[in-house]
Amino acid sequence: MAHATRPAPRFATWLIEGADSPTDRAVSNPASLGYGADLVGFGGGQPAVETYPIEALERAYASAIREAGRQVLPYGATQGLPALRELICARLAPRGIRAEPENVAILTGSIQGLHLVGRITLDRGDTIITEAPTFMGALAAWEQQQPRYVSVPVDEHGLVVDHLREALRDDQTGVKFLYLLPTFQNPSGVSLTRERRHQLLEVVREHDLLVIEDDPYGEFWFDDGSEPIPPLRALPGSEDHVLYVGTFSKILAPGIRLAYIVGPRQIIDALLRAKRGVDFHTDTLLQEAVVRLLHDDAFDLEAHVQAGRELYRARRDAMLDSLEATFDSETKWTQPGGGFFLWMDLPHAVSGEAVATAGLQLGVSVLPGYLFYANLDGGRNGLRMSFSNTPPERIREGVARLKQAVDTVRA
Ligand SMILES: Cc1ncc(COP(=O)(O)O)c(C=O)c1O
Repeated sequence: MAHATRPAPRFATWLIEGADSPTDRAVSNPASLGYGADLVGFGGGQPAVETYPIEALERAYASAIREAGRQVLPYGATQGLPALRELICARLAPRGIRAEPENVAILTGSIQGLHLVGRITLDRGDTIITEAPTFMGALAAWEQQQPRYVSVPVDEHGLVVDHLREALRDDQTGVKFLYLLPTFQNPSGVSLTRERRHQLLEVVREHDLLVIEDDPYGEFWFDDGSEPIPPLRALPGSEDHVLYVGTFSKILAPGIRLAYIVGPRQIIDALLRAKRGVDFHTDTLLQEAVVRLLHDDAFDLEAHVQAGRELYRARRDAMLDSLEATFDSETKWTQPGGGFFLWMDLPHAVSGEAVATAGLQLGVSVLPGYLFYANLDGGRNGLRMSFSNTPPERIREGVARLKQAVDTVRA
């Protein structure tokens, strides 16, 4: 029997503008391109796989489901388990953040928090201020609202506050929020100095700005002796302006998708209304398991984080030493005091994108710098390099391959 020809489905018209056109920022995963086991991966932002507390998580999940399954497997509260919110407040206190459990919302990853803040604050085309460079995952979180970005440069002391003042003076449209990574920034590894934190808060209060402080790396400081710099949210007077986003992704494992946001009650309420329409609540079995993990006498989270600091410090040192031994003074890089990343500036005429492409052929992945510029208007000769998930001897091999990639591009 002959079938009548049906009209083609209207895929394109069903989608909102922009939904089917990948941005210039969409990066392919090198593993999916067939680069396998021998690839030295400086491209991702993964914690070291050997740090995942597998046995402790196994115990925590087993006891959560056995002993609390009937309490945590029904639909739960959007804000998250009170016991977890209390533990989060207790962990934030030593870093100077005073918060009550009612000011905390549990998230399915911090990216969700960034997305939800966008949902409750942004109309299409609204203005966001970001650092330049900034975390590209955040830009993906707000893509649907097609915001206008104003970028403020970062130097070795973090965001340049004078430039922020100028940007605010010149802005005619009204800024919805400032998105900031003050501590061991992704992608540059630099931190905002104490002095600039105070100056920044002054500007924020003067302009009555909302700030998102994204802090996944703040606990991984390397330099003993120097007191870690308190988060922006720890400064007196910040509570009404700063939404603080933290995550378990880097201190436990990113695949568990567990994070939190701390903020004024009114904003948390609005965010929870938006979250109800996204996933209703974050996996409660996971929340219960993490509560149990944090109470497990055989697992000490603070010792676990301290071991992470030592591991990542050794990897940072291996990367800095290898770069020093391999590249000449035409190439510059940051000296991160913590976190997972450093930023490299290649000689002016050398394209980071070309080096990243050549690197893949030679068995090393790095990310080209322009991806981290909100308006794709900078970082052309930059690279983001992650040292977190590569042992020192592989770091040395990766840096040697990177040098070859740069030489290939320059030839
Ligand atoms: C600055 C920054 N924010 C957020 C995230 C994502 O965190 P999560 O796994 O909690 O969504 C990352 C991960 O790389 C990050 O670097």
